[in-house]
Amino acid sequence: MTFAKRAMLALLLLPAGVVAAQAPDVSSTRGVVVSTSGIASDIGAAILAKGGNAVDAAVATGFALAVTHPSAGNIGGGGFMIVRLANGTTTTFDYREKAPLRSTRTMYLGKDGKIDRQLTATGWLAPGVPGTVRGLYMAHKKLGKLPWVDVVRPAADLATGGFRMSKDFSASLNGALTRQLNKYPSSAAAYGKPGGGAWREGDTLRLADLGRALGDIATKGPDVFYTGWIADSIDRQMRRNGGIMRRRDLAAYRAVERAPVKGTFLGHEIIGMAPPSSGGTIVIQTLNILESLGVQRFASANDPGLLHLRIEAAKRVYRDRAKWMGDPDFVTVPVAKMTSKAYASTLAREIDSTHASSAVDLGAGIVAPPVAESDETTHFSVVDGDGNAVSNTYTLEGGFGSGVVVGGAGFILNNEMGDFNKKPGETNVTGDIGTKPNLIAPGKRMLSSMAPIIVAKDGQLRLVTGSPGGRTIPNTVLSVVLGIAAFNLSARDAVDLPRLHHQWLPDNASFEPGAVDSIGLATLRKKGQSVRVGGRQGDAHSILWDAATRTAHGAADRRTPDSKASIPE
Ligand code: DON
Repeated sequence: MTFAKRAMLALLLLPAGVVAAQAPDVSSTRGVVVSTSGIASDIGAAILAKGGNAVDAAVATGFALAVTHPSAGNIGGGGFMIVRLANGTTTTFDYREKAPLRSTRTMYLGKDGKIDRQLTATGWLAPGVPGTVRGLYMAHKKLGKLPWVDVVRPAADLATGGFRMSKDFSASLNGALTRQLNKYPSSAAAYGKPGGGAWREGDTLRLADLGRALGDIATKGPDVFYTGWIADSIDRQMRRNGGIMRRRDLAAYRAVERAPVKGTFLGHEIIGMAPPSSGGTIVIQTLNILESLGVQRFASANDPGLLHLRIEAAKRVYRDRAKWMGDPDFVTVPVAKMTSKAYASTLAREIDSTHASSAVDLGAGIVAPPVAESDETTHFSVVDGDGNAVSNTYTLEGGFGSGVVVGGAGFILNNEMGDFNKKPGETNVTGDIGTKPNLIAPGKRMLSSMAPIIVAKDGQLRLVTGSPGGRTIPNTVLSVVLGIAAFNLSARDAVDLPRLHHQWLPDNASFEPGAVDSIGLATLRKKGQSVRVGGRQGDAHSILWDAATRTAHGAADRRTPDSKASIPE
C-alpha cells in the first residue's frame, strides 16, 4: 500500500478532527481500550476491530501514545506490561530501562558531594537504556495475533501524517518547549512550531523523523532500534554531547518476561508487577494489611477511620520499599515475605486505630526524602472481546523525559536514571534515599513504582487498572482496587473516588479535594496525622469486566481531558 493510502486509512480509523474525543465511559462485548489520548485509544480499538487481540491492541496503543502523548508515551523510555489471558494464564513483560554500562554509583554527585539534580533531570547523562521497543516486541511475538507491521504502522502513519492538537496538548507542549526542549537543537527542531511562535489548539503536529523511525521499526523489527541506524544515531549523538550510552548498551538490552507477583484480597486475585517495580508488591502488601484490619467494616473507601488505617499501612509499606527493593537481577528482594498474609498481620497488629505512628521512628535509621512527583507516566488498559486483558504502564520518568530528542529519529529519551538512589549511604529527612538495593550499577534497572494491576475473581477477569504519578502510583491503584473489590463500586465511581497519598516520609498525607470532609479531617488530625488537601493524583484508565454478560466497562479517568475509552466500531 502506498504511504498516501496508508495515511488515508489511518485517518479513516480516527474520528473527525481527531482531537480529544471525550467518551469517558463505554461498555462493549467486543473489547475496550482506555488511555490518556483519544487518538491512541481509537487506534487500539481499530486493531481490535481488525481481529487483533488485547496484546495487538495494547502494542498499537503504546506506539500511538509515543506520537500523541510525547510527555510520557514513548519509544525512548520503558515500562511494564501485565497480560491475563481469558484462560486464566498470566504473565508480565519487564521493559524497564537499564543503567548504561559506563555508569557509576556516584555519577550524579557534584564536586561538593551533593546530588547534581540537573544531571538526572535533563540532558544527555539522564537517560537509561530504553526498553519500550524490545518490550512491546517481546509481548507481541509471544501473544499477538496480527502481523507486527500491522500494529506498529498506524503510529508511524500518524506521526508522518500529523494530528490536530487539543488545547491541553498544545499547552503542555508549549510549556515543555520553554522549560526544556528548546535547550536542545534536535528537540526544538522536532517539536518547535515551524516558523516559530507558540502552538495553538487545532494546529497540526507532524513528526517526520519519528514517523520514519516508527516506519522502520514496523517493517524491519526492533533490531533497527537496538543494532541498526537508530542505535548508531544514539551512539553518535551521545558521544558528541557528553552522554555515556553507547551502541553496545543498546545491543545488550533485553526485555524480560517475569512471573507476576500475586496476592489475594477479599476473595479476589491480585496480579501485579514484580521487581524491578515496587508497584505490585506495595499494592498487595497494603491490601493484605487492610484485609487483616477488617477493611470491609467501614462504610466507604474514604471513611475517615479507614483513611487513618490506609495512611498507617502506607508508612510501613513504603518504609519496606526503601529498605529492601531494587533490581532482582542484582539484589535479593524478599517479595514472598513482603506479600505474605503473616507479615501483613504482624504489621497490622502494630497499627493503633486511635493514634498516628511516627514515620521517622518506623524508619529506625533509614530516612527518605520529600519528593515532588509529577504525573508524567501513562497507563492504558485493554480488554478484547474474548476477555484477554492487558494492563500497561510506561514512562519517560519526568514530563518529556530528559528533554533530549535523538536527532533524525525524532523521539525523546527518558530521564529514568533519577529513579536510582543517587547518594550511597546518605539518607535524611529532606534529602534522598541512600539505601543499598537501589544504588546505581552498570546494566542494573532502577526501582520503579509503576503498578499496572489486573484483578480476577472466581477465575474470571474483573479489573484492569494502573496509573502514572511516581510514588503516588500504588496508592492511586489501591484506591481503584478498594472501590471495586471492597466496596463494589462501578468502574466510574471507583475511578472518580478522591485519592490519598502517603509514602512513609515525608510524614504527610495528601488528599484530593473531596476525599474527606472537614469533620473527617479534624478526626484524622486529632489522631496525629499530618494531612494536606489539594491537588490531583494520578490518571487511572480502567476497565471492569462483567463475567456474567462478558461485557467490558471502560472508564477513562476524567482528571485528564484528552483521555478516552474506545470500542471497536
Ligand atoms: O518508574 C517510576 O516509578 C517513575 N519513573 C514513574 C514516573 C512517573 O510516574 C511520573 N512522575 N513522577
